[in-house]
Amino acid sequence: MARLCSLLLVLPAALAAAACDPAPGSEVDCTPAAAPDGIDDDVPPVDPAALQAWLAADGYAGYLPESARHPSSGPHGAVRTFVNARLAGSLATCASPHPVGSAAVKELYDGDALSGWAVMVKTEAAQGAGHWYWYEVFDTAPDAEAPYAGQGLDTCTGCHDGGLDAVRVAWPLR
Ligand code: HEC
Repeated sequence: MARLCSLLLVLPAALAAAACDPAPGSEVDCTPAAAPDGIDDDVPPVDPAALQAWLAADGYAGYLPESARHPSSGPHGAVRTFVNARLAGSLATCASPHPVGSAAVKELYDGDALSGWAVMVKTEAAQGAGHWYWYEVFDTAPDAEAPYAGQGLDTCTGCHDGGLDAVRVAWPLR
């Protein structure tokens, strides 16, 4: 299925969207390309307090990063996304759904200062934004409380259902 899907991705977007796993009308920007070796495969904790401490302690330091921060094409301000080895390996073939334990961390910036994070962690095997844990916080203190945290959170799933099993970042990472 993954292979069929990646072939279809070279067809016009509307046709590919209709034939592939992601929902019709989705915006998938994925070109099959091997992930580099040596990416950390740590899975972020899906408890809000533990996750905030993990983020503040740079738990994603070994993830594969985008080369630089850039304006978000969504609502996220200036951002830089990092993915763990499991998600990178899955994106390498533009697979969908991604395996349980796939994770993305997006750094949020206010000018030059890191101001928070948006996180998604695949918690269930089935495809779609409802099968991820979602988290967003606008404070970098290790004990800050996140306004958004939860499995299949409505605030996040609307936009993210349009991605490749809810992942919207372009692959290969830029
Ligand atoms: C209005 C649409 C929209 C909403 C709502 C939204 N996002 Fe996103 N998100 C995007 C887009 C578009 C990207 C692609 C990269 C970018 O930011 O340019 C993205 C990227 C991400 C990424 C990086 C991995 C990926 O999928 O590319 C994470 C993590 C993320 N969002 C988390 C969240 C969380 C958590 C919420 C809810 C609190 C949320 N997003 C709500 C549009 C949205």
